[in-house]
Amino acid sequence: MVEALREELADLTASVRAFLEWHATTGADGMPGHPAALHEALGAASSEGAPPAPRRPERGFSGLDAPSPPMARGGSGAAFSPPEQRGGAAGAPLPPPEQRGSAAGASPRPEQRGGLESQGAWSPAQAQRGPEPSPRPAVSAAPAPRAETAARASAALPDTKEERVARLALLAEEVRTCQKCPLHEGRTHTVFSRGDPSSEVVFVGEGPGAEEDLQGQPFVGAAGQLLDKMIAAMGYHRDEVYICNIVKCRPPKNRKPEPAEMAACSPYLTAQLALIKPKVIVALGATAVQGLIGTSEGITKLRGTWKLYKGSIPIMPTFHPAYLLRQPGAKREVWSDLKEVMRHLGKSAPDRG
Ligand code: URA
Repeated sequence: MVEALREELADLTASVRAFLEWHATTGADGMPGHPAALHEALGAASSEGAPPAPRRPERGFSGLDAPSPPMARGGSGAAFSPPEQRGGAAGAPLPPPEQRGSAAGASPRPEQRGGLESQGAWSPAQAQRGPEPSPRPAVSAAPAPRAETAARASAALPDTKEERVARLALLAEEVRTCQKCPLHEGRTHTVFSRGDPSSEVVFVGEGPGAEEDLQGQPFVGAAGQLLDKMIAAMGYHRDEVYICNIVKCRPPKNRKPEPAEMAACSPYLTAQLALIKPKVIVALGATAVQGLIGTSEGITKLRGTWKLYKGSIPIMPTFHPAYLLRQPGAKREVWSDLKEVMRHLGKSAPDRG
């Protein structure tokens, strides 16, 4: 009797600890969506024989439920309806004042011309609104990193650029040999990051596509070329920002990463962001937002509204560039979101004539 009670108490303690660790490491609100994902993320699945989280059926287009035309990279964020016409970036709620940099609100809003409007394929004025994309059901499971890796990420952080670069290189090396989830079986290369680890802006995508898998670099395919234009419109060279993904290995057939795959990879992104400490994160598509803050809300609702990563770094969710390849009309909203990011950083759009 006493023994049984003791066991029950031990079980209860373990559950509470797991729950608290999940909160501490993801910064997410609420419960992890799938108990098996949490179990696995905390390292219990393999040792205790718990069943893995159920896998979604593979889909040709990033695991989305809505039938979608093919695109260069099955990125995230394709299954949502374009939001209602927004009143411009000024309508988007800001993070609390203490989260905003000193430049926040200090710079004038960029002019409507310049930026994306003046760039051929990137002109919202030229963009034709395509057919309404179908809504996508919410994904329920939230990622949950392994506690020990997250702890390592929050260990004493480097204060020189050299040390940051060195630590990121070590992390990339760890990723290169990672076998924490089945995605490693199909990869040609892991895809860790590209760009400047001292950047004030980090762009986070979903996961590598075919071209990225071949080259070992994020966003080098068609969606990546569009992302480069978005970045240029903001006044940066592509190498001046930092770009990475939620998962570092290509999901087969460009499907959306499984919750358990996102959970297994999550400590790497946590560590990357802890080292880089950007002023803003731009989350490209629903999967990116889900991987960062655990929300299962659709990107249509999320985009253009500031969120907070671990209670400290502002996140601007926006549409994935792969979606824009299919729905160029949505560039208008993305540009509005990027201008909001620039305003937060005290940057104005370069005048491109
Ligand atoms: N789409 C992504 O989400 N990431 C990449 O690296 C490439 C395409």
